[in-house]
Amino acid sequence: VQQWRGVIREYADRLPMLDGAPVVTLREGGTPLIPAEHLSELVGAQVHLKYEGLNPTCSFKDRGMTTAMSMAVKHGAKAVICASTGNTSASAAAYATKAGLTCAVLVPDGKIAMGKLSQAIAHGATLLQVDGNFDDCLTLARKLAEAYPVELVNSVNPARIEGQKTAAFEVVDALGDAPDVHCLPVGNAGNITAYWRGYREYHRSSEQPGPATKVPVMWGFQAAGAAPLVVGHPVDEPETIATAIRIGNPASWDGAVEARDTSGGRIDAVTDEQILHAHRLLSAREGVFVEPASAASVAGLLAAADAGLVPSGATIVCTVTGHGLKDPQWALRGADGSDVTPQRVPVDAVTVATALGLQ
Ligand code: F0G
Repeated sequence: VQQWRGVIREYADRLPMLDGAPVVTLREGGTPLIPAEHLSELVGAQVHLKYEGLNPTCSFKDRGMTTAMSMAVKHGAKAVICASTGNTSASAAAYATKAGLTCAVLVPDGKIAMGKLSQAIAHGATLLQVDGNFDDCLTLARKLAEAYPVELVNSVNPARIEGQKTAAFEVVDALGDAPDVHCLPVGNAGNITAYWRGYREYHRSSEQPGPATKVPVMWGFQAAGAAPLVVGHPVDEPETIATAIRIGNPASWDGAVEARDTSGGRIDAVTDEQILHAHRLLSAREGVFVEPASAASVAGLLAAADAGLVPSGATIVCTVTGHGLKDPQWALRGADGSDVTPQRVPVDAVTVATALGLQ
């Protein structure tokens, strides 16, 4: 049995940009598509979770970082830079290490989850906390990449979107066709742009061969306090507990709007309460632990079901973008916001059995 070779080698024929580039890979991609029985029942459709937390650095960013870092090496870059709400920096740091490049990271002050911060530092990135939000960090990173010999590996780098489109290929390869609806959290909007590109490229039509007979309707969900695509203009001070998508001016704005409009889809907002409810539901009912931003896709699906928008019996894929261990504090809160602490017990079988409700 040959192991999964990473997205560049698995989809080489669909990634012409990477032709002849050295392959920098941690064997990303090949993530499971997990049937979600409880969710399916709740919304009256066949729901599957694309669990991107199982990538090497525990988020979907690795799909785009293998391609961006391979291209950086091909260009002869010695250093890379990115702005990040956390996951991009973790991924960039790991892939830069693999490639032997140095990595600079700009993150918004105090708004990055501990798991992600520790990854970037563990992999040896030079990390600066900027006194500003993600949008400020991205503006800075773009300026620096223009003025200095350092390659930008945010999703404005075209290689990032190329790599991330492979997730749509994997969904079609697993289901045998495209789903009817695809739900995603939306922050900087690179991922919805990438999925839409992937689905269109895999679509069999009179112009091109391909394994899918259709493309899905794309549903994107932003956090209500950080929903520029929903309100129709940039948001100056984005706020949400889902720090990964705390973004007020998405770089791939046009890509998101195109995905929405050409697929006949929607981009809507979900509240932090809805996000945390979906987060708990995924953990407690589906056995899938994700970070809050990832739960936005499922929160949006549940809201759509409440609004009667879910076609009965449809095949629906929700991408859950990052692992729960990235930002575990949310699991340690009850539905009422109270802290959950384990009960202390003595080394005594009867007491333990009582505490467990066994007697
Ligand atoms: N989910 C997670 C876990 C993310 O980290 C991000 C983006 C998104 C969803 C949204 O994806 O930006 O392509 O619309 N995180 C970026 C970062 C901004 O810096 O890690 P998007």
